[in-house]
Amino acid sequence: MKIITLPSEAQRLSSALRNTGKIIGFVPTMGFLHEGHLSLIKKTRAICDVLFVSIYVNPTQFGKGEDYEKYPRDINRDILLCRQNGVDYLFTPDNKSIYPEGFSTYVDAGSITEVLEGRFRPGHFRGVATIVLKLFNIIQPHVAVFGQKDAQQAAIIRKMVRDLNVNTKILVRPTVREKDGLAMSSRNIYLNPRQRLDAGILYKALKYAENRISDKNFKKDLNYIKSRMEKLIKSKTTVSSIDYISFNNNNTLEEIKTLKNLSGVKILVSLAVRFGKVRLIDNIVVKR
Ligand code: PAF
Repeated sequence: MKIITLPSEAQRLSSALRNTGKIIGFVPTMGFLHEGHLSLIKKTRAICDVLFVSIYVNPTQFGKGEDYEKYPRDINRDILLCRQNGVDYLFTPDNKSIYPEGFSTYVDAGSITEVLEGRFRPGHFRGVATIVLKLFNIIQPHVAVFGQKDAQQAAIIRKMVRDLNVNTKILVRPTVREKDGLAMSSRNIYLNPRQRLDAGILYKALKYAENRISDKNFKKDLNYIKSRMEKLIKSKTTVSSIDYISFNNNNTLEEIKTLKNLSGVKILVSLAVRFGKVRLIDNIVVKR
């Protein structure tokens, strides 16, 4: 595995690989790799000739007071995991090479970035879309693979790729979960043992929604499901607040308010919950 730090070098290399007809697969990450990342890496390895992974904690997607400085990092362990999982090129740029002095161009994907996470993390998706487009321009992948855990991120990247004619196919892979259902996330490391135990409730609440929504005989509406989910989540003492529980169209992220006339529509049930200072997100996609 070759480690590349300079965008110009990565770009030269990927252009040369493209010219030889190789299919380039790409998994962008912020490092501190876990089984969720590894499932994306393994999938991409299986379907592409050349596998690029990036590790870059992107400052522009963190808001003021968020965890940019203390975001977990362990580059030596990440390098080992990449080596063990068949990564060909690991791209680890520094801030200066990604955002050189005078940098001022950003990608704004519009109203889709303002709902759900966007309401609580203003500017987050502008940073995400910008870095992902930059990485796509550097790595020039045929295929890029993302996780369903960040459902809104995936929807925004799909939209950006469509809107801006980016020549990369986007694949989204299922969330990898711990035994109790907690979605794998680099931020789970922040949970203390008590919070970690309670955090399994998020998946239980999502499964409750899935069971209700997919049951055609269920006659009550989404407000009822939401209040039951809230009750379940708040039954855990380490939960400090629920930022949102929301039902949205999985493609457009338009809010869904009623279960009427939803046959065939993929419904994204998503939530964000705080355990003290730790904020976790998760989701499930359901059909009525
Ligand atoms: O999902 C992530 O880890 C990040 O948002 C991404 C896509 C690597 C962009 O920084």
